[in-house]
Amino acid sequence: MRWMVVGAKGMLGTDLVSKLVETGHDVLAMDKDELDITNEGSVDHAVDGVDVVVNVAAYTAVDQAEEEEAAAFLVNAVGPQHLARRCRKIGARLVHISTDYVFNGSSSSPYQENGVVAPAGAYGRTKAAGEWAVKANTDDYVIVRTAWLYGAHGACFPKTMAALSERHETLSVVTDEVGQPTWTADLADLIVRLVEAEVPSGIYHGTSSGRTNWHSFAQAIMTSLGKDPAIVTETTAAAFNRPAPRPSFSVLSHNQLVAAGVEPIGNWLERWNVAAESVLADS
Ligand SMILES: NC(=O)c1ccc[n+]([C@@H]2O[C@H](COP(=O)([O-])OP(=O)(O)OC[C@H]3O[C@@H](n4cnc5c(N)ncnc54)[C@H](OP(=O)(O)O)[C@@H]3O)[C@@H](O)[C@H]2O)c1
Repeated sequence: MRWMVVGAKGMLGTDLVSKLVETGHDVLAMDKDELDITNEGSVDHAVDGVDVVVNVAAYTAVDQAEEEEAAAFLVNAVGPQHLARRCRKIGARLVHISTDYVFNGSSSSPYQENGVVAPAGAYGRTKAAGEWAVKANTDDYVIVRTAWLYGAHGACFPKTMAALSERHETLSVVTDEVGQPTWTADLADLIVRLVEAEVPSGIYHGTSSGRTNWHSFAQAIMTSLGKDPAIVTETTAAAFNRPAPRPSFSVLSHNQLVAAGVEPIGNWLERWNVAAESVLADS
Protein backbone atom coordinates (compact mmCIF):
# COMPACT_ATOMS: atom_id res chain seq x y z
CA MET A 1 0.00 0.00 0.00
CA ARG A 2 1.41 3.39 -1.02
CA TRP A 3 0.71 6.40 1.23
CA MET A 4 0.86 10.15 0.56
CA VAL A 5 0.99 12.61 3.44
CA VAL A 6 -0.06 16.16 2.50
CA GLY A 7 1.11 18.98 4.81
CA ALA A 8 3.95 16.70 5.84
CA LYS A 9 6.10 19.31 7.57
CA GLY A 10 3.52 20.36 10.19
CA MET A 11 3.44 19.13 13.78
CA LEU A 12 1.25 16.10 13.08
CA GLY A 13 2.61 15.53 9.58
CA THR A 14 6.19 15.17 10.84
CA ASP A 15 5.22 12.49 13.37
CA LEU A 16 2.98 10.71 10.87
CA VAL A 17 5.72 10.47 8.24
CA SER A 18 8.19 9.23 10.89
CA LYS A 19 5.70 6.60 12.05
CA LEU A 20 5.10 5.37 8.50
CA VAL A 21 8.82 5.23 7.70
CA GLU A 22 9.67 3.47 11.00
CA THR A 23 6.99 0.84 10.37
CA GLY A 24 8.23 0.12 6.85
CA HIS A 25 5.42 1.77 4.88
CA ASP A 26 5.89 3.19 1.39
CA VAL A 27 5.23 6.92 1.86
CA LEU A 28 5.45 10.09 -0.23
CA ALA A 29 5.71 13.13 2.03
CA MET A 30 4.51 16.38 0.42
CA ASP A 31 4.94 19.76 2.07
CA LYS A 32 3.34 23.01 0.91
CA ASP A 33 6.20 23.81 -1.48
CA GLU A 34 5.69 20.49 -3.27
CA LEU A 35 1.88 20.45 -3.18
CA ASP A 36 -0.36 23.43 -2.41
CA ILE A 37 -3.77 21.86 -1.86
CA THR A 38 -5.56 25.09 -2.80
CA ASN A 39 -4.29 24.65 -6.38
CA GLU A 40 -6.52 22.12 -8.12
CA GLY A 41 -4.12 21.64 -11.04
CA SER A 42 -1.25 20.84 -8.65
CA VAL A 43 -3.42 18.37 -6.74
CA ASP A 44 -4.44 16.62 -9.96
CA HIS A 45 -0.83 16.50 -11.11
CA ALA A 46 0.80 15.41 -7.83
CA VAL A 47 -1.74 13.03 -6.34
CA ASP A 48 -1.36 9.86 -8.36
CA GLY A 49 -0.22 6.27 -7.93
CA VAL A 50 -1.11 6.11 -4.23
CA ASP A 51 -3.65 4.07 -2.29
CA VAL A 52 -4.18 6.37 0.65
CA VAL A 53 -3.83 10.14 1.01
CA VAL A 54 -3.68 11.68 4.49
CA ASN A 55 -4.48 15.38 4.56
CA VAL A 56 -2.80 16.97 7.57
CA ALA A 57 -2.44 20.34 5.80
CA ALA A 58 -4.49 23.11 7.33
CA TYR A 59 -4.79 26.77 8.14
CA THR A 60 -4.49 26.48 11.93
CA ALA A 61 -4.15 30.08 13.18
CA VAL A 62 -7.43 30.12 15.12
CA ASP A 63 -7.40 33.82 16.09
CA GLN A 64 -6.09 35.05 12.75
CA ALA A 65 -8.86 33.14 10.97
CA GLU A 66 -11.38 35.60 12.45
CA GLU A 67 -9.78 38.28 10.24
CA GLU A 68 -8.90 36.01 7.31
CA GLU A 69 -11.79 33.59 6.98
CA ALA A 70 -11.55 33.47 3.19
CA ALA A 71 -7.87 32.45 3.36
CA ALA A 72 -8.66 29.82 5.99
CA PHE A 73 -11.61 28.54 3.92
CA LEU A 74 -9.37 28.09 0.90
CA VAL A 75 -6.99 25.77 2.78
CA ASN A 76 -9.48 24.09 5.14
CA ALA A 77 -12.42 23.56 2.78
CA VAL A 78 -11.49 24.13 -0.88
CA GLY A 79 -8.20 22.18 -0.55
CA PRO A 80 -9.94 19.11 0.92
CA GLN A 81 -12.51 19.34 -1.89
CA HIS A 82 -9.71 19.14 -4.48
CA LEU A 83 -8.14 16.20 -2.65
CA ALA A 84 -11.44 14.35 -2.29
CA ARG A 85 -12.27 14.70 -5.99
CA ARG A 86 -8.79 13.55 -6.97
CA CYS A 87 -8.88 10.60 -4.57
CA ARG A 88 -12.23 9.50 -5.97
CA LYS A 89 -10.80 9.68 -9.48
CA ILE A 90 -7.72 7.57 -8.71
CA GLY A 91 -9.49 5.21 -6.30
CA ALA A 92 -7.51 6.26 -3.21
CA ARG A 93 -8.84 6.45 0.32
CA LEU A 94 -8.74 9.97 1.81
CA VAL A 95 -7.96 10.41 5.49
CA HIS A 96 -8.78 13.99 6.51
CA ILE A 97 -8.01 15.58 9.87
CA SER A 98 -10.62 17.77 11.52
CA THR A 99 -11.16 19.36 14.91
CA ASP A 100 -13.26 19.72 18.06
CA TYR A 101 -13.83 23.35 16.95
CA VAL A 102 -16.64 22.11 14.68
CA PHE A 103 -18.64 21.92 17.95
CA ASN A 104 -19.57 24.98 19.98
CA GLY A 105 -18.36 23.57 23.28
CA SER A 106 -21.60 24.06 25.21
CA SER A 107 -22.22 20.34 25.83
CA SER A 108 -21.54 18.66 29.17
CA SER A 109 -21.31 15.12 27.79
CA PRO A 110 -18.84 13.85 25.18
CA TYR A 111 -19.56 14.93 21.61
CA GLN A 112 -20.66 12.00 19.47
CA GLU A 113 -19.19 11.44 16.02
CA ASN A 114 -22.60 12.02 14.39
CA GLY A 115 -23.49 14.98 16.63
CA VAL A 116 -24.66 18.21 15.04
CA VAL A 117 -21.77 20.53 14.18
CA ALA A 118 -22.22 24.15 15.24
CA PRO A 119 -18.89 25.96 15.13
CA ALA A 120 -18.60 29.15 17.18
CA GLY A 121 -15.78 30.81 15.19
CA ALA A 122 -14.26 31.22 11.74
CA TYR A 123 -11.67 28.42 12.03
CA GLY A 124 -14.35 25.94 13.11
CA ARG A 125 -16.64 27.03 10.28
CA THR A 126 -13.91 26.44 7.69
CA LYS A 127 -13.04 23.03 9.19
CA ALA A 128 -16.73 22.03 9.25
CA ALA A 129 -16.92 23.04 5.58
CA GLY A 130 -13.86 20.83 4.95
CA GLU A 131 -15.63 17.83 6.45
CA TRP A 132 -18.63 18.50 4.23
CA ALA A 133 -16.40 18.92 1.15
CA VAL A 134 -14.79 15.53 1.80
CA LYS A 135 -18.09 13.74 2.37
CA ALA A 136 -19.69 15.37 -0.68
CA ASN A 137 -16.88 14.48 -3.08
CA THR A 138 -15.81 10.94 -2.24
CA ASP A 139 -17.36 7.83 -0.73
CA ASP A 140 -14.02 6.47 0.49
CA TYR A 141 -12.97 8.69 3.37
CA VAL A 142 -11.99 8.62 7.02
CA ILE A 143 -12.43 11.92 8.85
CA VAL A 144 -10.48 12.01 12.12
CA ARG A 145 -11.41 14.81 14.51
CA THR A 146 -8.72 15.61 17.01
CA ALA A 147 -8.13 18.29 19.69
CA TRP A 148 -5.58 19.79 22.07
CA LEU A 149 -2.64 18.46 20.04
CA TYR A 150 0.92 18.67 21.30
CA GLY A 151 4.09 17.29 19.78
CA ALA A 152 7.83 17.57 19.43
CA HIS A 153 7.73 19.30 16.04
CA GLY A 154 5.60 22.41 16.47
CA ALA A 155 4.48 25.15 18.80
CA CYS A 156 2.18 23.70 21.45
CA PHE A 157 0.87 24.24 24.99
CA PRO A 158 3.52 22.19 26.87
CA LYS A 159 6.36 24.09 25.18
CA THR A 160 4.66 27.43 25.84
CA MET A 161 4.19 26.52 29.53
CA ALA A 162 7.81 25.38 29.80
CA ALA A 163 9.06 28.64 28.29
CA LEU A 164 6.81 30.79 30.48
CA SER A 165 7.92 28.92 33.62
CA GLU A 166 11.49 30.01 32.91
CA ARG A 167 10.47 33.67 32.97
CA HIS A 168 7.71 33.83 35.61
CA GLU A 169 7.37 32.62 39.20
CA THR A 170 3.68 31.76 38.77
CA LEU A 171 1.54 30.90 35.75
CA SER A 172 -2.14 31.70 35.60
CA VAL A 173 -4.00 29.01 33.61
CA VAL A 174 -7.71 28.50 32.89
CA THR A 175 -9.80 25.88 34.66
CA ASP A 176 -13.00 26.34 32.65
CA GLU A 177 -11.93 24.73 29.37
CA VAL A 178 -12.09 20.94 29.42
CA GLY A 179 -10.60 18.61 26.84
CA GLN A 180 -8.29 15.73 26.00
CA PRO A 181 -4.58 16.61 25.48
CA THR A 182 -3.40 14.43 22.60
CA TRP A 183 0.15 13.58 21.50
CA THR A 184 0.74 13.81 17.74
CA ALA A 185 2.72 10.54 17.86
CA ASP A 186 -0.33 8.77 19.34
CA LEU A 187 -2.60 10.28 16.70
CA ALA A 188 -0.17 9.21 13.97
CA ASP A 189 -0.29 5.66 15.33
CA LEU A 190 -4.11 5.77 15.40
CA ILE A 191 -4.28 6.98 11.78
CA VAL A 192 -2.13 4.03 10.67
CA ARG A 193 -4.26 1.60 12.68
CA LEU A 194 -7.50 3.02 11.21
CA VAL A 195 -6.25 2.59 7.66
CA GLU A 196 -4.85 -0.87 8.29
CA ALA A 197 -8.14 -1.95 9.88
CA GLU A 198 -9.96 -0.83 6.69
CA VAL A 199 -12.64 0.83 8.79
CA PRO A 200 -15.89 1.89 7.10
CA SER A 201 -15.98 5.42 5.68
CA GLY A 202 -17.08 7.84 8.37
CA ILE A 203 -16.10 10.17 11.18
CA TYR A 204 -13.85 8.97 14.02
CA HIS A 205 -12.54 10.87 17.03
CA GLY A 206 -8.78 10.77 17.56
CA THR A 207 -8.12 12.15 21.05
CA SER A 208 -6.72 10.75 24.27
CA SER A 209 -9.13 9.12 26.70
CA GLY A 210 -10.21 10.77 29.94
CA ARG A 211 -10.45 14.54 30.30
CA THR A 212 -8.78 17.45 32.07
CA ASN A 213 -8.58 21.24 31.98
CA TRP A 214 -5.67 23.45 30.88
CA HIS A 215 -4.77 24.23 34.52
CA SER A 216 -4.38 20.56 35.48
CA PHE A 217 -2.49 19.87 32.26
CA ALA A 218 -0.12 22.75 33.06
CA GLN A 219 0.45 21.26 36.52
CA ALA A 220 1.32 17.89 34.95
CA ILE A 221 3.78 19.69 32.65
CA MET A 222 5.46 21.40 35.63
CA THR A 223 5.77 18.04 37.38
CA SER A 224 7.47 16.61 34.28
CA LEU A 225 9.89 19.56 34.32
CA GLY A 226 10.74 18.87 37.98
CA LYS A 227 9.03 22.11 39.04
CA ASP A 228 6.44 22.68 41.75
CA PRO A 229 2.96 22.27 40.18
CA ALA A 230 1.67 24.79 42.71
CA ILE A 231 3.25 27.61 40.66
CA VAL A 232 0.27 27.12 38.31
CA THR A 233 -2.60 29.20 39.64
CA GLU A 234 -6.24 29.12 38.59
CA THR A 235 -8.00 31.59 36.33
CA THR A 236 -10.92 31.54 33.88
CA ALA A 237 -11.24 32.18 30.15
CA ALA A 238 -12.95 35.50 30.86
CA ALA A 239 -9.54 36.83 31.94
CA PHE A 240 -8.27 36.54 28.35
CA ASN A 241 -9.54 38.70 25.53
CA ARG A 242 -8.97 36.49 22.51
CA PRO A 243 -10.40 37.17 19.04
CA ALA A 244 -11.74 33.62 18.52
CA PRO A 245 -14.04 31.87 20.98
CA ARG A 246 -12.64 28.67 22.54
CA PRO A 247 -14.96 25.72 23.20
CA SER A 248 -15.34 25.36 26.98
CA PHE A 249 -16.05 21.63 26.60
CA SER A 250 -14.11 19.67 23.96
CA VAL A 251 -14.44 16.07 25.14
CA LEU A 252 -14.98 13.75 22.18
CA SER A 253 -16.61 10.30 22.27
CA HIS A 254 -14.67 7.33 20.91
CA ASN A 255 -17.73 5.18 20.21
CA GLN A 256 -17.06 4.82 16.48
CA LEU A 257 -13.50 3.61 17.10
CA VAL A 258 -14.80 1.00 19.51
CA ALA A 259 -17.54 -0.01 17.06
CA ALA A 260 -14.89 -0.48 14.34
CA GLY A 261 -12.71 -2.58 16.66
CA VAL A 262 -9.94 0.06 16.84
CA GLU A 263 -8.54 0.78 20.29
CA PRO A 264 -8.76 4.47 21.30
CA ILE A 265 -5.67 6.35 22.47
CA GLY A 266 -4.97 5.81 26.18
CA ASN A 267 -5.56 8.11 29.13
CA TRP A 268 -4.25 11.68 28.56
CA LEU A 269 -2.05 11.75 31.70
CA GLU A 270 -0.51 8.32 31.11
CA ARG A 271 0.25 9.32 27.53
CA TRP A 272 1.64 12.71 28.61
CA ASN A 273 4.01 10.95 31.00
CA VAL A 274 5.31 8.87 28.08
CA ALA A 275 5.50 11.87 25.72
CA ALA A 276 6.90 14.55 28.03
CA GLU A 277 10.61 13.87 27.61
CA SER A 278 10.60 14.01 23.81
CA VAL A 279 8.10 16.88 23.57
CA LEU A 280 10.00 19.02 26.10
CA ALA A 281 13.44 17.99 24.82
CA ASP A 282 14.41 21.47 23.63
CA SER A 283 12.62 23.33 26.43
N1 LIG B 1 -2.85 21.74 16.75
C1 LIG B 1 -3.98 21.43 17.36
O1 LIG B 1 -4.14 21.59 18.60
C2 LIG B 1 -5.14 20.85 16.57
C3 LIG B 1 -6.35 20.62 17.23
C4 LIG B 1 -7.41 20.07 16.51
C5 LIG B 1 -7.25 19.76 15.17
N2 LIG B 1 -6.07 20.01 14.55
C6 LIG B 1 -5.96 19.66 13.12
O2 LIG B 1 -4.88 18.74 12.99
C7 LIG B 1 -4.28 18.88 11.71
C8 LIG B 1 -2.77 19.04 11.87
O3 LIG B 1 -2.52 20.18 12.68
P1 LIG B 1 -1.05 20.64 13.05
O4 LIG B 1 -1.13 21.19 14.43
O5 LIG B 1 -0.07 19.57 12.71
O6 LIG B 1 -0.89 21.87 12.04
P2 LIG B 1 0.42 22.64 11.56
O7 LIG B 1 1.58 22.29 12.41
O8 LIG B 1 -0.01 24.07 11.43
O9 LIG B 1 0.68 22.00 10.12
C9 LIG B 1 -0.12 22.32 9.03
C10 LIG B 1 0.73 22.16 7.79
O10 LIG B 1 -0.09 22.45 6.66
C11 LIG B 1 0.71 23.20 5.77
N3 LIG B 1 -0.14 23.96 4.85
C12 LIG B 1 -0.78 25.14 5.07
N4 LIG B 1 -1.40 25.52 3.94
C13 LIG B 1 -1.18 24.57 3.01
C14 LIG B 1 -1.54 24.41 1.66
N5 LIG B 1 -2.29 25.32 1.02
N6 LIG B 1 -1.13 23.30 0.99
C15 LIG B 1 -0.36 22.38 1.62
N7 LIG B 1 0.05 22.48 2.90
C16 LIG B 1 -0.36 23.57 3.59
C17 LIG B 1 1.53 24.11 6.67
O11 LIG B 1 2.62 24.65 5.97
P3 LIG B 1 3.17 26.10 6.39
O12 LIG B 1 3.54 26.00 7.85
O13 LIG B 1 4.33 26.30 5.46
O14 LIG B 1 2.03 27.06 6.17
C18 LIG B 1 1.93 23.11 7.74
O15 LIG B 1 3.09 22.40 7.36
C19 LIG B 1 -4.99 20.07 11.05
O16 LIG B 1 -6.02 19.57 10.22
C20 LIG B 1 -5.62 20.81 12.21
O17 LIG B 1 -6.77 21.54 11.81
C21 LIG B 1 -5.01 20.56 15.21
